[in-house]
Amino acid sequence: MINNVYGIDLGTCNMKIYCKASNKILNEKNTIALVNKDEIYAYGDAAYAMYEKAPESINVTFPVTSGVIADFNNLQSMLQLFLETHAKGKLKGAEFIVAVPTSITDVEKKAFFDMFYKSKLKPKSVLLCEKPIADAVGLGLDVNEPTGIMIVDIGADTTEISVISLGGLVLSDLLHFGGNKIDESIITYVKRNYNLVIGQKTAQSLKEQLGSGVPGRQDTMVVVGRDVVSGLPIEMELSGEVVYEAIKDNLNSICNSIKMILEKTPPELAKDIIHSGIYITGGSSQIHDLDQLFAQITGININTCEEPEECVVRGLVKIVSDNKYKHLAFSMKSKILI
Ligand SMILES: Nc1ncnc2c1ncn2[C@@H]1O[C@H](COP(=O)(O)OP(=O)(O)OP(=O)(O)O)[C@@H](O)[C@H]1O
Ligand SMILES: [Mg+2]
Repeated sequence: MINNVYGIDLGTCNMKIYCKASNKILNEKNTIALVNKDEIYAYGDAAYAMYEKAPESINVTFPVTSGVIADFNNLQSMLQLFLETHAKGKLKGAEFIVAVPTSITDVEKKAFFDMFYKSKLKPKSVLLCEKPIADAVGLGLDVNEPTGIMIVDIGADTTEISVISLGGLVLSDLLHFGGNKIDESIITYVKRNYNLVIGQKTAQSLKEQLGSGVPGRQDTMVVVGRDVVSGLPIEMELSGEVVYEAIKDNLNSICNSIKMILEKTPPELAKDIIHSGIYITGGSSQIHDLDQLFAQITGININTCEEPEECVVRGLVKIVSDNKYKHLAFSMKSKILI
């Protein structure tokens, strides 16, 4: 019997899991609701629905923060529960390939490896792969070629800017910045300028529906928040212009980091990047007209893709199933950490 294969991208906001047996990608919130300190009450989307709404007895947590594992034990228990319930096919003896951010320590990488290798799932093998490499393969690019590729993956807590050539990372920068910081900026801006306290989910809806990389978005949205002065809940209509003002500094800081990496890129690779354009992926790359802003600032064409959140996991699938890409994944089994 052929072993089942799982491709796993444990993001700060969403966990994306590919199961070969069902040939499906499961995309759920990477959230756990705990009771009595460490008893799992709910997980995934169900736990996220409780976020900002739960009584004190239920603690809603995010086990991955800034792209690295913050709560090993609960994340391991949740993944086991999640896979047993949702994933089709044989779990025991399966092969796992897990995406890891670049620029994290070997100890942090080993935690991603041990999450599966030392679990009750008793996997046949566990391989790791750098996220930007998986991103590039997920975009359908041939990373083995001696051609420079620039990928900007803007997630929830991290933004990874990378230059890839010949299957390896030439340059990379991991910024501890993403959609969550953008949400926080909207909350702060609305509070300071409109005396209105809104929740993170409302800020996220404002970002998704009114956010824009360039000014001039005309749409409006009615939100409910708490009036700082009266202390009472009120409704207020906010415009795209307000959201643009709130997030423009955040977006400019990503632009500056892209420019810094471009400045450090060797000229022959820069030539390839100018020719093929910069690729943007990750959920936050969906901010309206973000590609337009990046193109204006860098003077380089920007490529977007469908379902950018799932680009990494799509790449993992190809890496394990295509011999041409298998060398891009690595094991940490025999790695001794000092
Ligand atoms: N239409 C949209 N417009 C703007 N932002 C969006 C949109 N859809 C999702 N997002 C944002 O994308 C982020 C989630 O993206 P993604 O799943 O790539 O992150 P992640 O992989 O969990 O995080 P990380 O890679 O930083 O660990 C969230 O911050 C979410 O608010
Ligand atoms: Mg991600």
